[in-house]
Amino acid sequence: MVATEQLASYADWENGLISPHLFSSEEIYHLELERLFSKCWLFLAHESQIPNPGDFFATYMGADPILVVRQSDGSIGAFLNACRHRGMKVCRADEGNAKAFTCTYHGWSYDTAGKLAAVPMLEDAYHNEIDMTEWGLIPVAKVDQYCGLIFGCFDPDATTLDAYLGDMKYHLDTNFNRKGGIEFVGGVQKAKMTGNWKLAAEQFAGDTYHAPISHISDFSIVTPPELAEERRSKARPANGFFQNTRQFGSILGHGTAFDTSRENHQSAGIGGDPIVDRHRDVIETEIRERLSDRQGDIYRGTIQHANLFPNLSWLNSPHIIRVWHPKGPNVMEMYAWVFVDKDASP
Ligand code: FES
Repeated sequence: MVATEQLASYADWENGLISPHLFSSEEIYHLELERLFSKCWLFLAHESQIPNPGDFFATYMGADPILVVRQSDGSIGAFLNACRHRGMKVCRADEGNAKAFTCTYHGWSYDTAGKLAAVPMLEDAYHNEIDMTEWGLIPVAKVDQYCGLIFGCFDPDATTLDAYLGDMKYHLDTNFNRKGGIEFVGGVQKAKMTGNWKLAAEQFAGDTYHAPISHISDFSIVTPPELAEERRSKARPANGFFQNTRQFGSILGHGTAFDTSRENHQSAGIGGDPIVDRHRDVIETEIRERLSDRQGDIYRGTIQHANLFPNLSWLNSPHIIRVWHPKGPNVMEMYAWVFVDKDASP
């Protein structure tokens, strides 16, 4: 176990420095599972992924496999995807619709509310002595949603989701609070990558600085030739690119950066398509009327990247959501979705 003094030594608050050890230590990783992922509200799914009773999506909370299931009364349940008999996953599909989840090891079967519904050879194997009500799937203690984004929390004493999101709701609203709602389209893209999950999360929370350099090949593809020529003719083409960028760090651990200028739309590959531009005009007006002018500016700006502590990230253009599942101190698995405004044209 890492001593408290040693933990404290990994951050030099006065000089704004942290130790690279935080991104590679096995011990820190296990502390994170124990102290962060078991306590925080974690993103599970979007409600558009599971519209009908029995629809389910399999994901993770920290290192634990989770089933998110639409219930027959329309509510959403979330359970550990682990059989109460010997711990096998009761569902091995990524998503789908089910009437029940039957473990393929010895056949215990659970209904979509997680209740143990059937045990093979109940009399022969258990003398009919199992109390079925005691052996349902272990539920996630708290499940709630904001703008259709479903979150779960293992800690029954945790604060409400609303309080957890806190001042980041302003930016969640800017991106996801639409009159007609949003929906996820297509499937989830998954990729296992070398690297600590925090490298990705903090990148989305605050690093805009990299964009003109790391994404130069991307920009060179989407930038119209005349604009590229103009940029090439300047001594420092990236200079001023993000002069209107603002950064926000929440005391709750969430973070974002955004650029409210429109001048860089073309070089960032945004805008220029009349149908998309028309839709964005409508949404921008709606945001200004229903939310605020400033949120309209952020929506219509070139880019926003953000991270909701600990591991939910998004970009506003293109509309992408990513979750960084921790898989060890030096491995993460990314789940990524594209989201759209529900009332956007096909
Ligand atoms: Fe699931 Fe035995 S482990 S039925």
